[in-house]
Amino acid sequence: MDVYTKCSNYATDTCPCVLAENGKCIECSMCRGEDYCTCSDTVSFCVQQELINNGGRARQQHHSMRCEVRYVKEYDDVFRFIRIAVPDADDFKKLGAYVFVRVNENPFFDVPMSVLYEEYSNGTIGLIMHMVGIKTESFRSLKKGDCIYVRGPYYNGIQGRSAVAHLRGRRAAMICRGIGFIPSLHVIGELWQNHNTVDVYLDWGRPGKQVLGFFKNQQEIHVNEVRIIDQNGDLTEDIKRIIAKAIDDGIELFHLGLSDYLLKRAIEAIEQNDPHHRIAISCINNSHICCGEGICGACTKDIGADQTVHLCKEQLNLYEYKRLL
Ligand code: FES
Repeated sequence: MDVYTKCSNYATDTCPCVLAENGKCIECSMCRGEDYCTCSDTVSFCVQQELINNGGRARQQHHSMRCEVRYVKEYDDVFRFIRIAVPDADDFKKLGAYVFVRVNENPFFDVPMSVLYEEYSNGTIGLIMHMVGIKTESFRSLKKGDCIYVRGPYYNGIQGRSAVAHLRGRRAAMICRGIGFIPSLHVIGELWQNHNTVDVYLDWGRPGKQVLGFFKNQQEIHVNEVRIIDQNGDLTEDIKRIIAKAIDDGIELFHLGLSDYLLKRAIEAIEQNDPHHRIAISCINNSHICCGEGICGACTKDIGADQTVHLCKEQLNLYEYKRLL
């Protein structure tokens, strides 16, 4: 299978990481012990050279920081918005940024959460807690002034980051359902910042209309309500028509904030109308992220006889990604 991969940590402050140190670097063939360099370097960052400069060791990796909770808002029984003070909020504004958070001292309670937005001026980041399991339930009694552990930022919360980042002055469409809207908010911000227009199609899903309230600039967003899934579990005719019309109208990027089940069907619908893959796609990263470092293997998918991708770190061609779903 031809799957384009790119490490989202490449050339960041934590690169080279422990994968390079252990001969498993995603980017650098030389670090993997091969005889030749396959690098398509565009940022003048040689992982192997950096590793040598650092004495053959990984750069310092993310560690958990104790951060103060500055604000808590209860939406209902399962949703909380929290704002946390972090050392350098500017680091968290990169597209696809997510962090691991926990209240409990036990690192097994780490939960990956997308950064909703960062406020550089007051050094905080905003997160939405969806309390549905043992880990997230521990946030229920959280209040202003409490401390929580934060590890990150990591940057693979969105697949297709480069397609979003490079779209300028164009048109994009966003199709989201329920909770999938939350990690997609960062994408809207990025697209607006680059002077794109974004048509948003939202199926409220289980959380209902309150998902819109999670967006800081909600008064600026125009949402088209749509049902995405019918009673047979297929895409509705409405959303298929919307996809076909958007493509006819010259849309250049689709962002999909959907479950894997719907994501596969939505990409198929796009492909039917655009068989040559002219249109870029991005989506939320639904993989089962555990360590976030490419070490534990919880997020891996086999894509060939001897090739495995780590969805916590790697960026994929989404038309190919659909075949893994
Ligand atoms: S989450 Fe551990 S390897 Fe990806």
